[in-house]
Amino acid sequence: MTAERHFPEGFLWGCATAAHHVEGGNHNCDWWEFEKRGGILTGDSADPACDQYRRFREDFALLRRLNNNAHRLSVEWSRIEPSAGEFDRAQIEHYRQVLLELRDQGMAPMVTLHHFTSPTWFAKGGGWAASGAHEAWLPFVRRVAEELGDLVAFWCTLNEPNIYAYQGWLAGEFPPGRRGDIRGFYRVLANMRRGHEAAYGELARLTPAVPVGIAQHKWLMLAANPARRRDRFAAASAQFFMDRWPAGVRWQRVVEAPCDYLGLNHYSGSLVAFSVRHVGEGFANRFNPPGLPVSDFDWAVEPRWLRVCLEQLRPLGKPVYVTENGIAAIDDGRRVRFLRDVLEQLWLAIQDGVDVGGYFHFSSHDNFEWARGYSMHFGLIGVDLETQERTVKPSGWEYARIAQANALPAEE
Ligand code: BGC
Repeated sequence: MTAERHFPEGFLWGCATAAHHVEGGNHNCDWWEFEKRGGILTGDSADPACDQYRRFREDFALLRRLNNNAHRLSVEWSRIEPSAGEFDRAQIEHYRQVLLELRDQGMAPMVTLHHFTSPTWFAKGGGWAASGAHEAWLPFVRRVAEELGDLVAFWCTLNEPNIYAYQGWLAGEFPPGRRGDIRGFYRVLANMRRGHEAAYGELARLTPAVPVGIAQHKWLMLAANPARRRDRFAAASAQFFMDRWPAGVRWQRVVEAPCDYLGLNHYSGSLVAFSVRHVGEGFANRFNPPGLPVSDFDWAVEPRWLRVCLEQLRPLGKPVYVTENGIAAIDDGRRVRFLRDVLEQLWLAIQDGVDVGGYFHFSSHDNFEWARGYSMHFGLIGVDLETQERTVKPSGWEYARIAQANALPAEE
């Protein structure tokens, strides 16, 4: 029998989205181009997605009913700055309404400034791989800070620079769809680091009261056989490039970048065995731990890994927010169990002394899952793509109960 496990007072319970996952009608960005040229495995496009651009008021009301007191979303750069240096007043006003609505409904907005999508004009010039990319992004950052900063509770500069660079320049699953472009991968990461640092400075200057962080993806790389030195080496090198970006002559851990808080996106991990047959992947043969369940994405499901990731952040001495965590599962019963298990691990990490201030479940709604289109179901709320009807899943009600109690229930 376990007693009720309480979370710290003021703990944030929210969900995470990005504009392109949910908004619909987002036609002036690189993803839209990618969708049109067949980049999505399912052939889907992000229009209408959840049509949240128009339905945000009802969607937020529903999240409020589920006792969310915070929400992570991104403002779409390509809407706000449709061509270089030109800002669209109507779109800025739209996002003011979005943030005002969140505030009115009692949800603290965490605003991401780059979550995988870039305006077509920026992508055409080489995107984040082009020299000076970070300078091209800054006017947007400044404008958003000036126009919307009074409504923002947390800034999140970039979402998962490493996944973004890997998928776009090495794996070809995200625009620009390049494969094996190591130079591009390097340049994207180097420019994103510059972009983050410059944005950090600008946001601190323009909105000094709003904490600034970054959402870094942690995919755990574990030695397949910890007794084998070669496996330990292969796992450590894979983890090295997953966690770092170039900073001058050294590779710096992204979580060591200037930040007021650390955002952790965590879903899964792999076992890594040294293999000469995997030269292109740094001699790392990655696979799922035998015996562990996998999600619909074929990612290993091991809730205890969240605690491992959180513990690793403790020495940095900064508040941590879980900016994304969830499970792709059409079978919602799995998500209910996952939520209970993963939140127990989060609670344990807090007992161990990790300063975790909130949890943003990915995601509120089933939505457009990048290269997998609508085939992956991460939501607490189902969306009928024909009628746009929303249905709260049992996991949504479970999350609502936990958020309301600010505690995990006692268990027999
Ligand atoms: C991204 C989300 C994405 C999720 C599941 C994260 O890498 O930040 O946008 O949908 O993983 O794939």
